[in-house]
Amino acid sequence: MTVKPRRSEDIINPDVSSAATIPSQYYTDPNLYKLALDRIFARSWQFATDTDRLKVPGQIISWTMGEGGLNEPLMLTRDDKDKLHCLSNVCTHRGSVLVDAECHLKQIRCRYHGRRFGLDGQFVSAPGFEDVCNFPAPSDNLPSLPLESWDKFLFASLDPMFSFAELTADMSRRVGFLPLKSSVFAPEHSRDYVVNANWALYCDNYLEGLHVPFVHPSLVQLLDTKSYRTELQPYSTLQIGPAANPCDAFDLPKESPEYGQSIAAYYYFLFPNMMWNFYPWGLSINLVLPMSVDRTRIRFLTYVWDEARMAQYSPADIDQTEREDEQVVEAVQKGVRSRLYDRGRYSTRWEDGVHHFHSFLSKNLAID
Ligand code: FES
Ligand SMILES: [Fe+2]
Repeated sequence: MTVKPRRSEDIINPDVSSAATIPSQYYTDPNLYKLALDRIFARSWQFATDTDRLKVPGQIISWTMGEGGLNEPLMLTRDDKDKLHCLSNVCTHRGSVLVDAECHLKQIRCRYHGRRFGLDGQFVSAPGFEDVCNFPAPSDNLPSLPLESWDKFLFASLDPMFSFAELTADMSRRVGFLPLKSSVFAPEHSRDYVVNANWALYCDNYLEGLHVPFVHPSLVQLLDTKSYRTELQPYSTLQIGPAANPCDAFDLPKESPEYGQSIAAYYYFLFPNMMWNFYPWGLSINLVLPMSVDRTRIRFLTYVWDEARMAQYSPADIDQTEREDEQVVEAVQKGVRSRLYDRGRYSTRWEDGVHHFHSFLSKNLAID
């Protein structure tokens, strides 16, 4: 059964106290899944890497944007003028992928027929094309994508529907004081999980604290759930986790809106699929990467700036929390297939972040 997306006004009431949740077809319909890749993922900012991996002119990293779903072959380069680029990794001749891994080069040479490009994407030469008319043209250069940085973290977009500043302004204001530049990527605490559920269900679960006492009993001891709160921005959502014990809290600067309070975590959700979790010891980035309508890769990337505090924290806790979330999200995926379920209601105290995310989804997936 294929169900046509409906108009956004028909789907999510802007008043959370009267609204019903997004229809279950959004988690189960392969057509809506494909529409989300085109209309949401191809039009949003995606985290690529950090500048520590691209320090020297000549460095190139291949990167598949939206690995498993969008699958866009790209590369990040630092050219000989020290400028960073995000380029298509597809040769403009007959479409071969150019670079497979991390490398250090003066020029990019296609292994198929020898076409060369500069690290800024400009066409350089193509053997056998001496008599071709109107050649080279601008379309023979490698397409270049908008590339932005938030501190040392690089993001790119194929065709952004909102500006990078709109995505990150609140995060800069709130947690920009943290020593992000000196944070170090910790591969031993980074890993991928695969969840048998739609990508948006995983995001829904992240966006509410209502499930925490039921699903994560050990987290409840760390957080003061009574003063747990959510703030909505046009393209992001912040959940502020007050610490149950002041020893687990940030040392906040005077300019912080939470100065004087004990805060254990800032949980930022950047639309449509990135979770940036800031703790006193560092940052855990979770990327939600759709693989199919009911299968999703979750990439956990850990950056540490305070080893001593990191030592007190147990990575096993994050792994356990992830497993607990996976179980409930997979149970929901089974439930939303039911013929007897379509939509539910929102808790106004706890689920305004989910409502905000659903409004964004329905607005972008509706056909007017
Ligand atoms: S596909 Fe690259 S040179 Fe032919
Ligand atoms: Fe959870």
